[in-house]
Amino acid sequence: MNGKGGMENRKQIVLVDANLFTREVLQKIIESIEDVRLDSFETIDDAVLGEIVKLDPQVVILNLDPDPESLLDFAGQLNRVLRDGALVVTAADMTPELIRRAMRQGAREFFPQPYNGDEVKLALASLMALQRSSPRTQTHAGQVVTLFGAKGGVGATTLTTNLAVSLAQEVQEEVIVLDLNLQFGNDALFLNLKSKYSIFDVAKNISDLDPALLKKTLPHHATGVTLLPSPFRFEDAESINAAHISRILQLLREHYDWILIDSHPYFNEVSIQALDDSDRILLLSILDLPTIFNTRRCLELFAKMGYSREKVLLVLNRYLSYEGADLPEMEQLLQYPVYARIPNQDFNSTVGCINQGIPITLKMPNAKMSQAIVELRDLLTGQGAGKERPGPGRSGFLGLWKK
Ligand SMILES: Nc1ncnc2c1ncn2[C@@H]1O[C@H](COP(=O)(O)OP(=O)(O)OP(=O)(O)O)[C@@H](O)[C@H]1O
Ligand SMILES: [Mg+2]
Repeated sequence: MNGKGGMENRKQIVLVDANLFTREVLQKIIESIEDVRLDSFETIDDAVLGEIVKLDPQVVILNLDPDPESLLDFAGQLNRVLRDGALVVTAADMTPELIRRAMRQGAREFFPQPYNGDEVKLALASLMALQRSSPRTQTHAGQVVTLFGAKGGVGATTLTTNLAVSLAQEVQEEVIVLDLNLQFGNDALFLNLKSKYSIFDVAKNISDLDPALLKKTLPHHATGVTLLPSPFRFEDAESINAAHISRILQLLREHYDWILIDSHPYFNEVSIQALDDSDRILLLSILDLPTIFNTRRCLELFAKMGYSREKVLLVLNRYLSYEGADLPEMEQLLQYPVYARIPNQDFNSTVGCINQGIPITLKMPNAKMSQAIVELRDLLTGQGAGKERPGPGRSGFLGLWKK
């Protein structure tokens, strides 16, 4: 995917400009730069987006004229599907307002018009040099984190979607949510995203899947999070097996930095494969007797599966402050440390957010629950601590399970 044969040193630039005059001026400037390949497009549509993804350019220059409103939208889409490329915009009238909005869509640089050839060349050279030293130009080595409820309804979907958007906002890395609640998945609703394709289509075409095209076709949240939804029909869930999961995760690791899996809360070959292949598992629990009982059983099973304590992280959701005193008792009972606690939020706020399809960390960033999710995200990203990731649990239980 990254290798370009003998062309590694050749830089690819793409120019999208509907105006023949400005396009030709810029073409001339760029053609005078050595070792650069330039492809130009006049129009913008899904087909062009697909072609740009295939070219995997270092820089894309987009002229926002004649219709900055719709072209800004396109700029956002473009930025989300570019692997490592930098987005540059230009317009005859670059007002501060337009610059601000373009920045929000991910633009890294602005070329004022009329173009100054030397400045354009200098800016392109520095953007392309930046790319060379950027670790993002290497294959991603995404982290797989599975959120597994010790019981249904403990908040797996809520926490998956909120962690995903807050990760995407904070780390500026590629985040994908994989909805593995194959029959009743609802991450798409929580994120208010519609998709033409689901994991069923991906599994069906797994042997000749084009990851760049996949990235383009899956829906993106405004924060940049990509979603791979669960199947649309119940019966399609049946055809997805452990081998599909394994291959899909392998592929996603190469193209995303974070793969968050919203798992269904029971063990079968699909969920166990996801757990085996995960770097970390957030085991979600709440403090009621049946869930505590299940949590204990899950922890025992994970230990049998050979998962380390660094891999399995216990998260208490819907935590009430008066239960604080019970925490050591709880840890004693479960013989397991609590990694994080997410407070209980009032019903109106949480359900309101779900019904509007806006994660609470975005809608109510100051809510205690949102702050706790952000803290959990910071724990996961590590900032030094926990850097050496436990590898996927090769010693998994799957073989045993399948017998
Ligand atoms: N910290 C919290 N405070 C208050 N309510 C919460 C909290 N976390 C989740 N909820 C609520 O719990 C309900 C179930 O959440 P969610 O759908 O995320 O659970 P789930 O584990 O994905 O369920 P399922 O097993 O059905 O997939 C939702 O109404 C959600 O708003
Ligand atoms: Mg759910």
